[in-house]
Amino acid sequence: MAGYDEATRARLGADAATIIARYPQARSALLPMLHLVQAEDGYVSPAGIAFCADVLDLATAEVSAVATFYTQYKRHPNGEYTVGICTNTLCAVMGGDAIWDEVSAHLGIGHDETTEDRVVTLERIECNAACDYAPVVMVNWEFFDNQTPASTVGTVERLRAGQPVAPTRGADTVCSFRQMSRVLAGFPDGRADEGVGAGPATVRGTVLARERGWTAPEFDVPADDAPGTAGGVPDAGRPQSSAERPPTTPADTSAATQTSTQKES
Ligand code: FES
Repeated sequence: MAGYDEATRARLGADAATIIARYPQARSALLPMLHLVQAEDGYVSPAGIAFCADVLDLATAEVSAVATFYTQYKRHPNGEYTVGICTNTLCAVMGGDAIWDEVSAHLGIGHDETTEDRVVTLERIECNAACDYAPVVMVNWEFFDNQTPASTVGTVERLRAGQPVAPTRGADTVCSFRQMSRVLAGFPDGRADEGVGAGPATVRGTVLARERGWTAPEFDVPADDAPGTAGGVPDAGRPQSSAERPPTTPADTSAATQTSTQKES
């Protein structure tokens, strides 16, 4: 299996050490490590597989098994921009299917295929938790809300022309596939707080509840489930009564749902 040259291996080795140090066991670092090699090669290459296996003390078959399980890991060279069109139920009925049909025909490519100029890789994607802005398109995991076939064709053509493209929420511009992959590997680009995360549609329920004085119904937490008991779950996995729950404001909601390119499907 082809490997990296000495200089590349040394550079990636330093990054790998940073990633691995975040986990109690080295093998737990595999997911960000796969993003790291994807940032290097534009996909999870044979050299990247071998590198991950070596530094994490895994078999190459184990690394490949993980890389082939998650759709964010590409097993062939990806375009500079992944254009993901949500064709999950809500987006589909709101126009996602029509967007897909038009953009796919316009580019002459299908799912997980890349334009000849290597700029756009097209994907059908599942729900991105942005249904309040359906139909949604993602470019390298940045949100393009309330899209139409024409608006999405316009976006891919601006990308192919090398023009700057801004998402409707989140970062000010979309970055390249390799830059995005490096962020997902755990090396922030400092842009996570650019733009708005949760827009008005996202926080509409919270705003209405505050205006009208609505609160969630009270409920009793069974004694066995109380924190600190044998069956209790003392962390965020346990439902909280409204008395325990911290107040939620539109600002809180916005911060909690702030989006960046650090997003895993
Ligand atoms: S169905 Fe498309 S974002 Fe939820």
